[in-house]
Amino acid sequence: MKSRTCFVCQTCGAQESKWLGRCPGCDAWNSFVEERVGPAPSDDEARLGLTSTEGARLYADVEMAQMDRLSLGINELDRVLGGGAVPGSLVLLGGEPGIGKSTLLLQAAARVAAVSGPVLYCSGEESEHQIKVRGERLGIGQAPLFLFAETCLERILEEIARRQPALIVIDSVQTVFSPKLQSAPGSIGQIREAATQLLFSAKSHHIPTFLVGHVTKDGALAGPKTLEHIVDTVLYFEGERYQSHRIVRAVKNRYGAVSELGVFEMTDGGLQPVANPSQLFLAERSAGAPGSAVLCCVEGSRPILVEVQALVSTSTYGTARRTASGIDQHRLGLLLAVLEKRVGLNVSGDDVFVNIAGGMNVNEPAADLGIVAAVASSVRNRPIDASTAVFGEVGLAGEVRGISQAALRVREAAQLGFRRCVVPAANHEKLDIEDFETIPVRAVDEALDVLIA
Ligand code: TYD
Ligand code: MG
Repeated sequence: MKSRTCFVCQTCGAQESKWLGRCPGCDAWNSFVEERVGPAPSDDEARLGLTSTEGARLYADVEMAQMDRLSLGINELDRVLGGGAVPGSLVLLGGEPGIGKSTLLLQAAARVAAVSGPVLYCSGEESEHQIKVRGERLGIGQAPLFLFAETCLERILEEIARRQPALIVIDSVQTVFSPKLQSAPGSIGQIREAATQLLFSAKSHHIPTFLVGHVTKDGALAGPKTLEHIVDTVLYFEGERYQSHRIVRAVKNRYGAVSELGVFEMTDGGLQPVANPSQLFLAERSAGAPGSAVLCCVEGSRPILVEVQALVSTSTYGTARRTASGIDQHRLGLLLAVLEKRVGLNVSGDDVFVNIAGGMNVNEPAADLGIVAAVASSVRNRPIDASTAVFGEVGLAGEVRGISQAALRVREAAQLGFRRCVVPAANHEKLDIEDFETIPVRAVDEALDVLIA
C-alpha cells in the first residue's frame, strides 16, 4: 500500500485531504499540519527499542539498564547532557543563526570519531567543501568523520543503517524533507516527520543523534514546539553575537538535570570550553564603582558569580524609564517598588538601568538582593566593598528570604577570593567556611546598612 498523507487540525483533530486556512470543525486558523497515514508501521518502526512484546511487566522485574554514555570529548558539552550522550537518545540543539551550532557539533563529531568510531555528519546547509574549510580551522585530523550533504530523509536513514556510526549529526532538521509528504521543506509537517523518523532510527540502532534546530527571533524553535516533545533532550545555545562567550543550556533532559549549563568561548580555533565561568564574568569588573554588586547564582548544579550593574539618573523626559538586560523587567519593577516603600529610597522620577555584565541571563529570585544593592549603591553614589558578594530573595514586605544551595554559592565566592558574603538569615547557620565571613540579614534595609555603609 502506498503511503498517504492527510492534514490534521492541531486544535481539534479534524482530518482533511487538503490544507485549509481555517478548520471547519473548530474555526481555528492556520491549524492544519500534514501527517502521514498508513501503511501500518514497518517492523523496524514498531520495534522502537521501547515497545515490549510481552505486555506489561512488574516494576521489580525490570532490570537496571546499563547506560554507557558516549563522551563527546568536550567536557562542557558532556556536562550539559548529564555526563555524555546516552545511546539511542535524540538531542536537539537550538540557537540563532551564526551562534556556533555547526562549529560545536563538528568539533564534537571529530573528537568522537577519533576515539569511538565513525561519525556521520549530515548537512543540508553547507557543502562538503564548506565543512572541510571549517574543519581545517578547527584542526580536524584523520578521524573517520563521514560528511553527507543530503536533505532527503529516506537517503539519510539508509546511510545511517549502512554505516552504523557511533554518532549522528543532522545539520539542520529544518532542511531535511521527505518526498512522501506534499508540504514544503521546513514546514511543520516535514520537520515533525523528520524528527519522528530519526527518533525511530536512533532508538532502533542505539546511536545518539543530534539535531540542529534554528530558532526564530522571538526565541522559539522555528517550526513546532512539538519538536521539543519528540526529542529526549533540548539544548539551547545562547550568547550575544558580539561577545565571544557562548552558553549551552539544557531546557529538557530525560537523562539528566535541566538548566545545567556549559560555557564556551568562540576563538579562531573554534569553541573552547571555559572551566571557570565566574572568572570570565567578573573579568572586567569595575570594582569600587558605585552601582556594581557581585551576586552568586546557581545554574543547574553550577554556581556562577556575576556582576550586576545599575545606573540611576535623573529622568529628562516625563516618564521615567526602567531598562533591564539579563534580568526580568517586571522583577526589576517589583524590586524598585520594595526599595521605595520599605527602604524609603525614592527612584520614581529617575531612569533606572540594570544590566548583568557579560550578557548572562539571571532568572533566579536569589539575584534580588544583589540587584537591590546595586540600585541603592548607584542612588547613594557609594560603592559596595569589592570583596563582598551577595545573594537572597527579596519579598514584598522588604524581608530577605532564604534560598536553595546557599553553601554552594558561598564556597564559590570563597574560592574566587571574596572575603565576605551577605546572606539571608534563614540560610546562615549551615554556612561555615574558614577565613570567610557570612553576614546574615533579615530585611533589605539591614542588608543595605551592611553593604553601603
Ligand atoms: P556556525 O557554527 O556556522 O553557526 P551556526 O551553525 O549556529 O549558524 O558559527 C559561525 C560563526 O562562528 C561565524 O560567525 C564565525 C565564527 N567562528 C569563529 O569565530 N571561529 C571558528 O573557528 C569558527 C569555525 C567559526
Ligand atoms: Mg550552521
